[in-house]
Amino acid sequence: MATQVVIGAQWGDEGKGKIVDVLTEQAQWVVRYQGGNNAGHTVKVGDEKFVLHLVPSGILHAGKKSVIGHGVVVDPIGLVSELKGLQERDIDCTGRFFLSDRAHVVFSYHKAIDAAREEAASKAGSSIGTTRRGIGPTYGDKVTRKGLRLGELVRADAAERVKARFVERNEIIKALGGEALDVDAHTAEVMAAAEVLRPFVADTVVLLHEARQAGDKILFEGAQGTMLDIDYGSYPFVTSSSPTSGGAATGSGVPPNRIENVVGVCKAYTTRVGEGPFPTEDFNEDGQRMGEIGHEFGATTGRSRRCGWFDAVVARYAVMVNGVDQWAITKLDVLDTFETIKLAVAYEVDGERIENMPADTELFARCTPIYEEVPGWQSDTTGITSFEDLPAAAVSFLDRVTELTGAKVGIVSVGPRRAQTFNRP
Ligand code: IMP
Repeated sequence: MATQVVIGAQWGDEGKGKIVDVLTEQAQWVVRYQGGNNAGHTVKVGDEKFVLHLVPSGILHAGKKSVIGHGVVVDPIGLVSELKGLQERDIDCTGRFFLSDRAHVVFSYHKAIDAAREEAASKAGSSIGTTRRGIGPTYGDKVTRKGLRLGELVRADAAERVKARFVERNEIIKALGGEALDVDAHTAEVMAAAEVLRPFVADTVVLLHEARQAGDKILFEGAQGTMLDIDYGSYPFVTSSSPTSGGAATGSGVPPNRIENVVGVCKAYTTRVGEGPFPTEDFNEDGQRMGEIGHEFGATTGRSRRCGWFDAVVARYAVMVNGVDQWAITKLDVLDTFETIKLAVAYEVDGERIENMPADTELFARCTPIYEEVPGWQSDTTGITSFEDLPAAAVSFLDRVTELTGAKVGIVSVGPRRAQTFNRP
């Protein structure tokens, strides 16, 4: 398999970091193509736990090369602190970590604007529940052609331009009810970070092109998920990038006809953080149990995640828009103790049955799931390391996922460690 993409099929937090970590064995390059440090990828290597926000998890594999493509928005200060954390744990990035010179920069004024907008919206009862990492304002500046790219930030004469931006954006922050930022202090901080990042900045489009020409294998690491996609998600309760597989091409420069395999990562149930519709959300004991057993707290914000049953409408939609070739079903073990397991096979709205995701978010919010129930396996799967050892009821559940979504299950995961992830033969 030459070039593959790992995408989230739900609302993010599907366990992509872990699947990427396992699939990295087959690649020389791991590439992030969208999002920013709103993402939090947790990877367990032996007894060590790593939480990465921007750096692709391929960095944890000696000798593999990691790239942050131009579709990503980069908070230089956050990235420097992440690189420092890796260095302190003896993970050397020299010569194997590359940052696109076309990637847009997240400044602290973007974060301040994000927070001020969210504060104002929450008073009006209309907040999105963003991570407040400045993601929306940075992508906003990018598409309105007001952004600054990393290639420009690392130029020797960038400070004056950066300063002027802080002065201008302070007016916006104040108008939104926020507090103006200290221009000199913030400029100095970001310029110091730029200095550290300069050696990593490269034309990653050419780099990846040459890697492909040389026959290297590339793995794309999606952040967030299909239902948070700016186009396909439950707008406006979405992030501002394209986490779906198409984003891998636009966000990296590797053309779509060179991407050969799409792995859709999907939990055996569903979670969501932030506001917005979630038809299979379970407000009762089952949802609470999933949250407790699955440790459903955000890696970036620490917020507790909303939990509910597997939603085949969402998963089918993810297959449609990403071209999922195979599923990686994660956290199957979280369902170990349930007597019966529910899968939403369709929705009901205004007395009608619908099989496909509605584009209208207001309509989506009124959809109620039509459930099918299957027997639980009620045994501990966390010690299982091969597909053949799964209980029959768990295999039936996975088969039902395939029937309902049209994509085969290729990978199953029953815990955070590498050994707890195995292929379906
Ligand atoms: P933003 O990306 O910070 O603008 O947040 C927009 C929405 O995406 C909010 O509902 C966030 O909770 C959600 N979101 C952003 N990043 C992640 C993630 O990595 N996992 C899950 N949800 C996320």
